[in-house]
Amino acid sequence: MESIYKSDVVIVGSGISGLMTAVSLYPRKVTLVTKRKLGEMSSSAWAQGGIAASVTKEDSPQKHFDDTLRASSGLSNKIAVKTITEDALDVVKFLEKIGVNFDKDSNGFCLSKEAAHSYRRVLKINGDQSGKFLVSHLIDYARQQGHITFVEDISIDHIIQKDNQCHGIMGHIHKNEAVDNFVFFQSPNVILATGGLGSIYAHTTNPRDVYGEAIAMAAKANAKLVDLEFVQFHPTALDVGLDPAPLLTEAIRGEGAFIVDEKNNRFVFKDDPLGEMAPRDIVSRSIHKHKLKGHSTFLDCRHFKINFEQMFPTASQYLNQSSIIPSKDLIPIIPAAHYHMGGIQVDINGRTSVEGLWACGECSSTGAHGANRLASNSLLEAFVFSKRIADTINSEPPKKSHNLINIANYIPKEKTISKIRAKKYIWQLRSAMNKFVGVDRNKSSLDQAFVEFLRIERETSRMSAKLKDMLLVSKLITFAALQRKESRGTHFRSDYPFQNKELLNRKVLNQKDLFDYLNNKFKEAM
Ligand code: SIN
Repeated sequence: MESIYKSDVVIVGSGISGLMTAVSLYPRKVTLVTKRKLGEMSSSAWAQGGIAASVTKEDSPQKHFDDTLRASSGLSNKIAVKTITEDALDVVKFLEKIGVNFDKDSNGFCLSKEAAHSYRRVLKINGDQSGKFLVSHLIDYARQQGHITFVEDISIDHIIQKDNQCHGIMGHIHKNEAVDNFVFFQSPNVILATGGLGSIYAHTTNPRDVYGEAIAMAAKANAKLVDLEFVQFHPTALDVGLDPAPLLTEAIRGEGAFIVDEKNNRFVFKDDPLGEMAPRDIVSRSIHKHKLKGHSTFLDCRHFKINFEQMFPTASQYLNQSSIIPSKDLIPIIPAAHYHMGGIQVDINGRTSVEGLWACGECSSTGAHGANRLASNSLLEAFVFSKRIADTINSEPPKKSHNLINIANYIPKEKTISKIRAKKYIWQLRSAMNKFVGVDRNKSSLDQAFVEFLRIERETSRMSAKLKDMLLVSKLITFAALQRKESRGTHFRSDYPFQNKELLNRKVLNQKDLFDYLNNKFKEAM
């Protein structure tokens, strides 16, 4: 049986982007759809860093802009960078107005220092629990406003569009992909805010649910995608065999932690004079290379004078669970997929290339982060662009809603493969992404990734919606990585190890480009 909801604006996702867009659309009626309970399993709620904003006398939006640009390896959209760095103070003021309590002492905000920022610039809440507090505060605020209808436990699978016009979305009851459990939302404005794609990699700091579903949906709706090859690996995920790998915030290095090997050698200095405080892409590659040479890699906080537990309650909890005492023990670390700079191409107001379809936060790509994101600019971007989308929609007269047509085409005709078999193939896919499309890639590894994807596809003809989406997203990332024949930011190709000035442009593609590539590849192989 199908249910059809109608709404003027429908938002998919309940992390910071989804919630902030919803509250900023007040008083317009909004439906917010989320896969689990509100805020649950969102990357935002797991964010440990905070919000980057130039709030001190010696700092300025211009300096924040300069640092962001420097980290981005030349590829960012300067207008987007200017927008987020200039609007940062307004975000902080708004959050304080709705009752968010940033950490403060007698001198004002307590600010963290994170890699590649020239100043202490990151506002935080209860040490490393910024995301958790921001999300719960926004949920409370959103509930009080009264203009939002929350629909929980729905997983969205498709954007329904005709002639490049979005008509709505279709999904199923989460945890139940039975043939008769589909839900449709008819709406002239659909806002995708489902986060990134870390979980297409075996090593990730992202929640399991975060596997690029918005990119998959947008691709299937022929939306333009951009910068897909740029996946940021966080250098310091806790390496104790947990999946996802717990994040150890960069602010720990900001307080002076060392990265060392088994001989206490601070090897990152060989790759960059800034050592542990070099941009993330450089530190992650340095750790990755060192591991490949057979070394073990650790975070070393044994010399700390600060109260670790008070400053980093989340990290302390993770370490505690693994019986690691930071004042005594070295902490094993591994780079893990953390953030996607690429995504659904949007303009400066969050519009995608499909009329009526908007995207916000990590699933979108505004160009604010270029080829490598600066720490704590992601929550900032999410707040700034959510508000821009809401203001743009609110400034326009309500749009005509288009009837949902051909909905039967979106409903799978047969039952999908069992959960257990899907899990096995999902793990194989994630391992292939880590091995062949990870911190270090080249033509041969990227080709091997495609061989793996096609094998998985052959062996799973009735794939679950999740596996299907994960495969599509993995193929798109790998295809984009093949196209960029240079190394820039997080995209490092050992067969093209240098930047190429000629390639200083953002690469836009859509699903058809991938299909054309694969068709040609098969023709050549025959
Ligand atoms: C961190 O705290 O290291 C992560 C923050 C971020 O990704 O911006």
